[in-house]
Amino acid sequence: MTACGIPRLISGLKTHFRFLFLYLHAIHASNLAKNIRQMNSKEINYELEKNMEVISQLDDFVGHAVDTVLVDPEDCWQPTDFLPDFSNPEAMEEVKLLQQRAAGIPDTVLTSLVGNMITEEALPSYQTYFNLLEGINVDKSLLSPSGWVRWSKAWTAEENRHGDLLNKYLYLTGRVDMRVVEQTIHRLITNGFDPKSESDPYQAMIYTSFQERATKISHVNTGKLADKAGDHLLSKICKTIAGDEARHEKAYKTFMSRIFDIDPSGAITAFEKMMRKQIVMPAALMGEGSSRPSIYKDFAEITQKIGVYTGWDYARIIEHLVDYWKIESLTGLDAAAAKAQDYLAGLADRYMRLADRIKAPDEVSLAWLK
Ligand SMILES: [Fe+2]
Ligand SMILES: [Fe+2]
Repeated sequence: MTACGIPRLISGLKTHFRFLFLYLHAIHASNLAKNIRQMNSKEINYELEKNMEVISQLDDFVGHAVDTVLVDPEDCWQPTDFLPDFSNPEAMEEVKLLQQRAAGIPDTVLTSLVGNMITEEALPSYQTYFNLLEGINVDKSLLSPSGWVRWSKAWTAEENRHGDLLNKYLYLTGRVDMRVVEQTIHRLITNGFDPKSESDPYQAMIYTSFQERATKISHVNTGKLADKAGDHLLSKICKTIAGDEARHEKAYKTFMSRIFDIDPSGAITAFEKMMRKQIVMPAALMGEGSSRPSIYKDFAEITQKIGVYTGWDYARIIEHLVDYWKIESLTGLDAAAAKAQDYLAGLADRYMRLADRIKAPDEVSLAWLK
C-alpha cells in the first residue's frame, strides 16, 4: 500500500463504520419500536384486563364449587368399582362374562368408544391449558390456594378416572389393539390441543361449557347403544361418566352465568367470538404426525354415523346455551355486544340447517380394533 493510500483507507473505514453505526442504530430503533408496540398492545388490551378482573372476583365462588360440586377422592367412585377384582378367585369368570357381553357391541360403536376414551385419557393434560389462561393462576403456582387453581386440579383429577375406567374396560374386552390405542394417546398428549380461546378466560368458560355438554351427550348416547347391544356393564359405565360430565357442565355454565351477570357485554362478545371460531374437539390432533393422520376424521365420521355425536348435537348445544344464558333477552349491551346478540340468536337454526344437509358416509374406516 502506498502512503497516499492510507488516508483513503482511513476515510473508507470511517465511512464503513458510519454506515455500520447507522445500521445498528436503525435495528435498535426498530426493536425499540417493536417493544413499545408490544407494550402498548399489552397496555391497551383493556378487554383482557377487565376479563381478568371479573375472573378474580369469582375466585371464592369457584373455590366453593370445588368443595360442593366436585367430589372428594375418598367419596368419589373409582374405576375399580366397575371392574373385576383380581384378588377374587372368581375374577376370571367375571372377565369371561365381560367379554361375552362386549362381543355383541358393533365395531363402529367400539371404535367410537375408543375415540372417546382417548379424548378422556388426554384430559388431565388440559390442566396446563386452564392454568395458562389470563387471570386464572396469578401466583403462577399449582399449589396456589386460589379457587380457580384448585378447580383446575380437582376437575382434571375427576376427568382422569374417565379415561382410566374406559381404558381398563376396553383392555378387558380383548377386542381392541391396545398398543395402537396407547400410541394414539401418546401422540395426542404430545401434540396437545388448541381450543382457540386464546388466553381469554371468558372464551375458555364458553368452550368448557360447550365441551362438557358435548361429552355428556356422547357418553349418554354410547350408553344407549351399549344397552341395545346387551352390555349392561358398559351402559352403566357410560351413564356414570355422563353424570360427572353433567356436574361439570352445570358448574362451567354457572361460572359463565356469573360472568354474564357482572359483564353482559363482555360475556356475549366472548360467546360470539368462540362460536365464530367454532368449537374444536379436544382430540382433534390425535393423528397429526402419525402414520394415519386421518384418524380423527375417521372417528368423527363414525360418531356422526352411529348417532353418538352429530351435527344436530352441535346445533342443539348452541341452542341450549343461548337459552340458558338468556342471550336474546339481555339488555343494556354496547354496540359490539348487540351485534353479537343478533348473530347468536340465529346461530342454532343455521347449524341445524347445515346438519340437515350433512350426509353420514356410507363407508366408514374402523380403527384401533383387533
Ligand atoms: Fe370426562
Ligand atoms: Fe367433564
